Amino acid sequence: MSVKDILRKRRSVRHFDPNYTISSEIITTLIESATKSPNGNNIQATRYLIIEDPKLRDSLLPLAFNQQQVVEASVLIVMLGDYQAFDKDNIIKIHEEGYQAGYFNEALRDFLANAAINYYADKSHEDLKLELTRDVSLASMSLILLANEAGFETITMSGYNSKNLKEALTISDRYLDVMLIAIGKGTRAGHKTVRHDVNNVIHKNKIV
Ligand SMILES: Cc1cc2nc3c(=O)[nH]c(=O)nc-3n(C[C@H](O)[C@H](O)[C@H](O)COP(=O)(O)O)c2cc1C
Repeated sequence: MSVKDILRKRRSVRHFDPNYTISSEIITTLIESATKSPNGNNIQATRYLIIEDPKLRDSLLPLAFNQQQVVEASVLIVMLGDYQAFDKDNIIKIHEEGYQAGYFNEALRDFLANAAINYYADKSHEDLKLELTRDVSLASMSLILLANEAGFETITMSGYNSKNLKEALTISDRYLDVMLIAIGKGTRAGHKTVRHDVNNVIHKNKIV
């Protein structure tokens, strides 16, 4: 199916078959493809925390406003950004790997690594949070498209208490939780939703 058709047909699904399982091999394949998403300076900050343990899933229910997707979907992933990805060591390592793979020469390796290090050097925590949100969101959308292409249904969720979720899953402040993604077999179609007329969202040269 084309990307255009997936986008046309996709709905947020809120009711999943709790007995349907998706193998970890399939999920790994989907995530591997999602990792190809564009990301700032290729620092690869997105992490995919898959919650398999049913007890952990149950513990998330009350802090996610009892949204049943949290327990019923075959797969629940906490989409995280890793603040340590901004570390100089990580940036150098990634560019060294690109050099070793033969993708660029020494000069380009050093130029790209230094440009990235300098780019993040003066950024505030708030700036870095935005950087992570961008990267994780792009990877999230890729994962949603891929899961839908594979014949599953999905929902994105920000309807949860971030502080309580991080506590329940013992996620440290090293990570920014950006959203949850549930993947599975829908038992009820997602309702249709309207969109603005495209001419109302396109602006040229100026927006007021
Ligand atoms: C960042 C984000 C967070 C969302 N959080 C929730 C959520 O917590 N619960 C929910 O039922 N839907 C959630 N949604 C789904 C939206 O309500 C849905 O995408 C929107 O209504 C458009 O419908 P559609 O996805 O079926 O086209 C979320 C969507 C996004 C992008």
